[in-house]
Amino acid sequence: MPVSLATWKHGFQPNRISYEALLAGSPALDAVEAGAKYCEADITCMSVGRGGLPDATGILTLDASIMDHEGNCGSVAFVQRYEHVISIARRVMEKTPHVMLAGTGAEAFAEREGFPQTELLTEKAKAYYSEWLKQPDRLQVRLRRASEGEHEYVFVHVDENGKETEAHEQNGRISRLAEASHDTIGVLAMDSAGHLAGACTTSGLAFKLHGRVGDSPIIGAGLYVDGKVAAAVATGDGELMMRACSAFHVVEMVRQGVEPGEALERALKRIRQDHHLTPDKQCGLMVIRADGVWAARSLRPGFQLAAASSQLQDKNVLHDVTKRGITVTTI
Ligand code: GLY
Repeated sequence: MPVSLATWKHGFQPNRISYEALLAGSPALDAVEAGAKYCEADITCMSVGRGGLPDATGILTLDASIMDHEGNCGSVAFVQRYEHVISIARRVMEKTPHVMLAGTGAEAFAEREGFPQTELLTEKAKAYYSEWLKQPDRLQVRLRRASEGEHEYVFVHVDENGKETEAHEQNGRISRLAEASHDTIGVLAMDSAGHLAGACTTSGLAFKLHGRVGDSPIIGAGLYVDGKVAAAVATGDGELMMRACSAFHVVEMVRQGVEPGEALERALKRIRQDHHLTPDKQCGLMVIRADGVWAARSLRPGFQLAAASSQLQDKNVLHDVTKRGITVTTI
């Protein structure tokens, strides 16, 4: 019965943690939190938690949300000094009458609740930022999706006419700036009691404008759970999912009887109609229906997720989501 899914390759170990917790009898809410926390503390993941890339002012800000099978939800946005924002979001859900706290208010709440303050910016992230800062008007970050494999951040030079050239083609010095960056972790789980839960945590888009908040802490955009229907999570360019309320859209279609995979296709179709969509933008969606059936789809090739369930012989498996469907890769 237990099922656990986590977005991207960096979700592999978090998903193992989540699934092992489920097998040990943990509630889905504890499992998704444990998986998300692992990623928040993993400094090799440069788009979640400590180790993430900062905004355009050099400050790292974190967003997160969590939701259980009873419709309880909590979220935090624009948090600068606390590593485990997913746990702060859970505390907002469990100990306040509110759904979302942001900025200094969220941090004051975290302090009152006894969360330890942490320096989030690593030396590696600072080095990336310094390189980016050297040419702020000419060097911009883009997300590139290769036809195969993972997506990554790349740096581009933009000339006076707006023509973009990948930075490493011109300048080897910065080519490694872009290595191994991904986007967000979303973890969905169904426990032995059949309860669903979801967690979503991110440092958001690298070198974003100071103050920018993405989809991950927005209930209904980055994450939505209805324990009787489905749990859905989104990853990718947050503005797309915020405009489309993608996670909510998926769950509502499942409620109306649409099959999980088809619900994801229809949510992506809505995103494709967004006139802001450009070829570099990606969106990955995952859903678990209340009977345990799950699906994942993405706008473009390159989205990966980790999955574990009894149908997969309790193995944690990394899937490549492509236009042709899902390819299973056993790790
Ligand atoms: N999906 C994460 C973000 O856009 O912030």
